[in-house]
Amino acid sequence: MSRTRSIVIKGGTIVAADRSYEADVLIEGETIAAIGENLTGDSVLDASGAYVMPGGIDPHTHLEMPFMGTTAAETWESGTFAALSGGTTMVVDFVIPDSENLIGALDAWEARASRQASADYSFHMCVTGWSEPIFEAMEAVVARGVNSFKHFMAYKGALMVDDDQMFASFQRCAALGALPLVHAENGDIVAALQQKYLNEGIRGPEAHAYSRPPEVEGEAVNRAIMIADAAGVPVYIVHVSCEPAHEAIRRARQKGMRVYGEPLVQHLTLDEAVYQHPDWDHAAQRVMSPPFRDKRHQDSLWAGLSAGSLQVVATDHCAFSTAQKRMGLSDFTRIPNGTGGLEDRLPVLWTSGVETGRLTPNEFVAVTSTNIARILNLYPRKGAIQPGADADIVVLDPKAGKTIRASTQKSIIDYNVFEGVEVRGLPRFTLSRGEVVYCAGRNEAPRPGRGRFIPRPAFAPAHRALSTWKALVAPRAVSRDPARMPIGV
Ligand code: URP
Ligand code: ZN
Ligand code: ZN
Ligand code: ZN
Repeated sequence: MSRTRSIVIKGGTIVAADRSYEADVLIEGETIAAIGENLTGDSVLDASGAYVMPGGIDPHTHLEMPFMGTTAAETWESGTFAALSGGTTMVVDFVIPDSENLIGALDAWEARASRQASADYSFHMCVTGWSEPIFEAMEAVVARGVNSFKHFMAYKGALMVDDDQMFASFQRCAALGALPLVHAENGDIVAALQQKYLNEGIRGPEAHAYSRPPEVEGEAVNRAIMIADAAGVPVYIVHVSCEPAHEAIRRARQKGMRVYGEPLVQHLTLDEAVYQHPDWDHAAQRVMSPPFRDKRHQDSLWAGLSAGSLQVVATDHCAFSTAQKRMGLSDFTRIPNGTGGLEDRLPVLWTSGVETGRLTPNEFVAVTSTNIARILNLYPRKGAIQPGADADIVVLDPKAGKTIRASTQKSIIDYNVFEGVEVRGLPRFTLSRGEVVYCAGRNEAPRPGRGRFIPRPAFAPAHRALSTWKALVAPRAVSRDPARMPIGV
């Protein structure tokens, strides 16, 4: 009789979002079977001197996304291998329909992912307009295990939705138990500022940053939060880059609103000065929306992570080659927007966050894995080291280091926005559903197509709690004694 082979991770310190402790982890098949002392199994992974953590979840990627007249060059195959080599075991990618056919777009994304992905994945669906067919299709999307819908308040004339469309979609999300996500920048003002700088002859990547100031983001975050509150639904703000955006989220949370904020590892560590770089390619390679900001804004984001007003660190991995970036050589508005980071998120955040004392190791696990698993209703299947959970595990060696180089990365992009940055906190092993898919020093890629779609049920606990509260405090008609009513004319 055949028996599932087991693996024991021995001698490490388990770091969960709530505590750290020394124990072995026994894995049988795809899941964690036991945690304890002196466990035995068919094979042993040595975790001495290392931290055993839930694999990273990156809830914001755009692999092979058609965008701005081209397609993001990072494929599902290269992107998920890059992710695993950096300790990220699951990505959540954005499906962008080019019509009202949301299910057709979901099928197209699923076809690409299922053939190529070596890490597990899930999807968010983008709502880029509003109509009866979209209203109907949202229910079918939720039935397919996609419980989050993204809205762009920017990219006027392309993906942008306006307030009434967003309000309608948010109300639909409330009814379906789905979470609305928002790219918050005031798209009308961005479009006007872009035109202004083009008219003034400022056509280089520096104008990308000039046309998207922090206030434009802060205004949109406030508006998105107000619309979500009116619709009675939680809301998740993607790529929060600055203090005005963080301030809006902080204030809403203090009022008891269910608002989540996601800074990117790039916005935490990279400075707006990159757009002034004399080398056009260098500056254009860093063009993304919102743009990188100055230190004051970076400090605000770090403070938000330690205070709990911001919950998740993502990458928005949307990687274009230098040749693609040059589509905007004579006009910054044509530079494809997006940067990479999937491979580097954990080591960069460990080095700049934990090693500096801005984050505890437990907070690191919370913001790279556990919090988003809870928000997206994946917990504890993902985001947890506990019996019954998927064995998605990173054994992180805090002493192992490297200098980030495009020339040695797994990503197929020809540059890296973190080029030259020295990091520590590298994976010694990465496991995905019980399989060792990456091992330090070994470079072979796991089998493309081994990654699985992970469905996410609707009605996460915070969604239920908010619906209950909103029903309780909903405006009601006053019942009046008909006998005492004035006579109408
Ligand atoms: O510049 C960015 N962020 N590109 C990816 C698409 C998006 O806005 O998230
Ligand atoms: Zn409208
Ligand atoms: Zn965005
Ligand atoms: Zn994005």
